[in-house]
Amino acid sequence: MKILAIETSCDETAAAVISEKDNRPVVLSNVVSSQIDIHKEYGGVVPEVAARAHIESVIPVIKASLKKAKIDISDIDYFTVTQGPGLIGSLVVGVETAKALAAATSKPLIPVNHLEGHIYANFLSETEKPQFPLLSLLVSGGHTLLIYIKDHLSYEIVGQTRDDAAGEAFDKGAKLLGIGYPGGPIVAKLAERGDENKFPFPLIDLTPLPKRNNEGYLEKPEPSLDFSFSGLKTALLNIVKTRPGLTEPEVKDLAASFQKSIVDNLSQNVMRAIKKYQPKTFILSGGVAANQKLRETLGVKIHATSPKIRYLTPDFSLCTDNAAMVGAVAFYKIKLHQKSSPNFVAEPNLKLT
Ligand code: KG4
Ligand code: ZN
Repeated sequence: MKILAIETSCDETAAAVISEKDNRPVVLSNVVSSQIDIHKEYGGVVPEVAARAHIESVIPVIKASLKKAKIDISDIDYFTVTQGPGLIGSLVVGVETAKALAAATSKPLIPVNHLEGHIYANFLSETEKPQFPLLSLLVSGGHTLLIYIKDHLSYEIVGQTRDDAAGEAFDKGAKLLGIGYPGGPIVAKLAERGDENKFPFPLIDLTPLPKRNNEGYLEKPEPSLDFSFSGLKTALLNIVKTRPGLTEPEVKDLAASFQKSIVDNLSQNVMRAIKKYQPKTFILSGGVAANQKLRETLGVKIHATSPKIRYLTPDFSLCTDNAAMVGAVAFYKIKLHQKSSPNFVAEPNLKLT
């Protein structure tokens, strides 16, 4: 089986070829053309500019992925593409290109949810096999979700952000510090040389206050699994405002302290969810999964409290947006004979169901 996957949901134009070995997906090629350099000067992704850049790169990227996999387009059995969520102008480029290729070669086309793709990046490891039930923390530029996954392609969202996403917090924090875009990797780099305990940031707990039941006893509500990052951003803004002309060491300390606070806030709810759902495997996914501090902190905490739980993180190259992860979802959809309509359209607000 050969699958050609296309991903254009935000600011990376990506194509990958996925094959099969021992009933598992194998990556033959995974090509990503990043637009970071284009958007850097605007301090964030400009949707119209992103869509135009996808139009220019999508065919060369697909050709490069076929060449790297050493196969011809006529060898492809299935096409797959990210249907959403994402920027509408960007998604449309991938979806329409995939439709044209599938029609021209008379092969099936499978739409994939980008968030499923991030989760399934963990199924591309050659050495580790996630065991169900899984719990995933999906942390990207647009989403922060805790997802309980009983079996393939079945998702229950058990916690989510009520405001900013974790990646967005990194990006906005970096903007406040004036250190560039995209914020996550830049904050992480500066944090390596900063003191993470220098500036205290709040640990946000959205658990409601205890309530009296009908018999008059105080009842303790279940700990909340939801996140909020907007307060951390405001806390950072307040520090930046009161210290005009931050020195280089101060910026490094702030980056380290801010990163620690995001990691602590994520870890608090991950540990609560693990206690509640007792998964066999915990998987980290999404662009922020590339953060070394987050990977290490969760690994240590999970091992200390639940040594039997397997802890998986995707390869660094599979954390941020790529098409191999989209191909991995399509692989399991095909194996599980999941039907998909060929008449789908790009969905910027597609939900994980
Ligand atoms: O999954 P992704 O590539 O795109 C979306 O689907 O949003 O995630 C991008 C996000 C950005 O917010 C970026 O700052 C963050 O992932 N990110 C990181 C790191 N690398 C990327 N955040 C923290 N540490 C990193 N090393
Ligand atoms: Zn993504």
